[in-house]
Amino acid sequence: MIERIFPAPATPGPASDEDLLAWYFQDRVEGTWVSFNFVASVDGAATVAGRSGSLGNAVDQHVFQLLRRHADVILVGAQTIRAEGYGGELLGPEARQWRRDRGLAAHPPLAIVSGSLNLDPGHEVFTRAPVRPLIITTAAAPADRRAALSGVAEVIDAGTDALDVTVLIDELARRGLTRIHSEGGPTLLGTFQAADRVDELCLTVSPLLAGGTAKRIADVLPGARPAGGLAPRPMTLAHILKADSMLFLRYLRAR
Ligand SMILES: NC(=O)c1ccc[n+]([C@@H]2O[C@H](COP(=O)([O-])OP(=O)(O)OC[C@H]3O[C@@H](n4cnc5c(N)ncnc54)[C@H](OP(=O)(O)O)[C@@H]3O)[C@@H](O)[C@H]2O)c1
Repeated sequence: MIERIFPAPATPGPASDEDLLAWYFQDRVEGTWVSFNFVASVDGAATVAGRSGSLGNAVDQHVFQLLRRHADVILVGAQTIRAEGYGGELLGPEARQWRRDRGLAAHPPLAIVSGSLNLDPGHEVFTRAPVRPLIITTAAAPADRRAALSGVAEVIDAGTDALDVTVLIDELARRGLTRIHSEGGPTLLGTFQAADRVDELCLTVSPLLAGGTAKRIADVLPGARPAGGLAPRPMTLAHILKADSMLFLRYLRAR
């Protein structure tokens, strides 16, 4: 059972899926919109034993799925694909029908960000994809890997040597993909933070002390750490939901 605790609802009680969709998708502006969804432990770990799975539970998975509903494209960093898989359909039958009823494509494509193009064309993320994935890279990517992946995905350049987030967003928008929903991972969020292009962050706080040296939810590419660290980006709290001891926070870029 999920309930909203901030803003306090007029009538407290369990939230329906319609409530959740209304709360998560309000306050958006027209044009491009970039949302990120993460789960972290109470002490800020983005992974346990190298993956995010054990931070979540069935309620978190339900919210994770609902957040895909309005997406024109699901954006993910290559290491998340390598760690988590992402093969097959991203949405179940009910969600696909929900999208069709609203004039959206049943399947939002997956867009994978990779500088190295170190991705196997035989990976299930390509072989089981219901729609052709996109791969977003730079002009400096190895030509042989680009050629190999071009058979299974549309390979798009966003930048010459380094990834240019504005070009990435523009390239997606040019294809009609303006509602960009990212599921991470940390390097990708840090890249968007650096470019100040994070409009929304949905964060599940998992009731768990993880400890150790796991990444936080925003990080940078190895060797690309800016002097003084990533520029902090203020955000405004939009809502807090609660399910037992798990919290679901929604933050929007401070205006
Ligand atoms: N807690 C959560 O909600 C959550 C969510 C997602 C993932 N994760 C976890 O996070 C871990 C992966 O972390 P990560 O930070 O390595 O993941 P990531 O951001 O998904 O992937 C990093 C990779 O994406 C590409 N990339 C990202 N930003 C780039 C940039 N600015 N320029 C060029 N390439 C860029 C690079 O791919 P190439 O190496 O191919 O060049 C880079 O190595 C996994 O263990 C995963 O399970 C947790």
